Amino acid sequence: MGKIFLAGGAGYIGSHTALSLLRSGYEIVTADNYSNSSPEALNRVMELSGKTFKTYEADMTDTSAIAEIFSENEIDAVIHFAGLKAVGESVEKPLEYYRCNLDATLSLLEMMRKYSVKNIIFSSSATVYGGENPSPYREDMSRSACTNPYGWTKFMSEQIIEDTVKAEKNISAILLRYFNPVGADESGMIGEDPLGIPNNLMPCICQTAVGRREKLTIFGRDYDTPDGTCRRDYIHVSDLADGHVKALDYMLGKNSDGKIFEIFNLGTGVPYSVTEIVQTFERVNNIKLNYSYGERRAGDLPECFAEPSRANEVLSWTAKKSLEDMCRDSWNWQSKNPQGYNK
Ligand code: UFG
Repeated sequence: MGKIFLAGGAGYIGSHTALSLLRSGYEIVTADNYSNSSPEALNRVMELSGKTFKTYEADMTDTSAIAEIFSENEIDAVIHFAGLKAVGESVEKPLEYYRCNLDATLSLLEMMRKYSVKNIIFSSSATVYGGENPSPYREDMSRSACTNPYGWTKFMSEQIIEDTVKAEKNISAILLRYFNPVGADESGMIGEDPLGIPNNLMPCICQTAVGRREKLTIFGRDYDTPDGTCRRDYIHVSDLADGHVKALDYMLGKNSDGKIFEIFNLGTGVPYSVTEIVQTFERVNNIKLNYSYGERRAGDLPECFAEPSRANEVLSWTAKKSLEDMCRDSWNWQSKNPQGYNK
């Protein structure tokens, strides 16, 4: 089996994918600038897997750092997780977001071409379906206008990768469009540890439950949905990580017969409302959350969920974990690590 390079490998999804790859027998190398992640996550991946691997502290916008990694390691595939990911912050700091996220994509592709690395899997997002397509989203729908710079960096990175695959006879790519990743490895040793004030629902719930935040506000109760709150396709991060392993198996298996360009949604296809998430979290963890309903948050769509059958048909992948698992595992991580990796 080949050696896989995880760009941004210490982050939430990167660290869970690292663990799944090691458990599936792949060798890995990681790089991260640790701007929103901790090297401790990788120590714990080593402990959980019983395996060691090389880690680089490097920024993926730095072509010479990537060149060093590619020249020191025989890389069969890159999984590109590196990037800034806070939607609200991207509106305040568009230049930082475009520079960081697009530069990382460009630099990785340029260095792949230079060092003859043939395969890339890209962490994309359901956000590229934009506001113009109805849920459930299918991969054959066209990308549509995003509502924030973060979303546009995913949209543009997808286009850059697609054009590169068209032009370069030796480069293959898979774009994985994530829906709403939540949960943590069952062990509770690795999990989501956002820097600063979290934007996403599950970290907000967990930080409220653990006492780091006073209360949770549910944004909007007057949407055209069954209970008036927004519905999303939450997916357990361990299922998401397995999706990467399946995509890689497919890519490396196929690659001997020629290059590929494929897009897959990674979601469950089942939407849950914010109220359902909060109530399920309370029930499975036997916790009373301090929450109330507030104003809508700008830019939120009432519904966003996947049509996930393509990944099932082509990759034999399907999400297995339930909403209860997601809520239990999120809390298991947070309660064992109240301050994240810092304490
Ligand atoms: N929410 C609250 N209160 C909070 C935080 C969130 O009610 O304190 C609600 C939001 O309004 C939304 C739902 O919880 O209805 C989920 O919000 P998240 O911020 O967790 O997730 P989003 O669906 O807004 O964003 C996610 C990813 C982005 C991606 C986007 C679109 O985090 O990366 O989906 O695909 F761009």
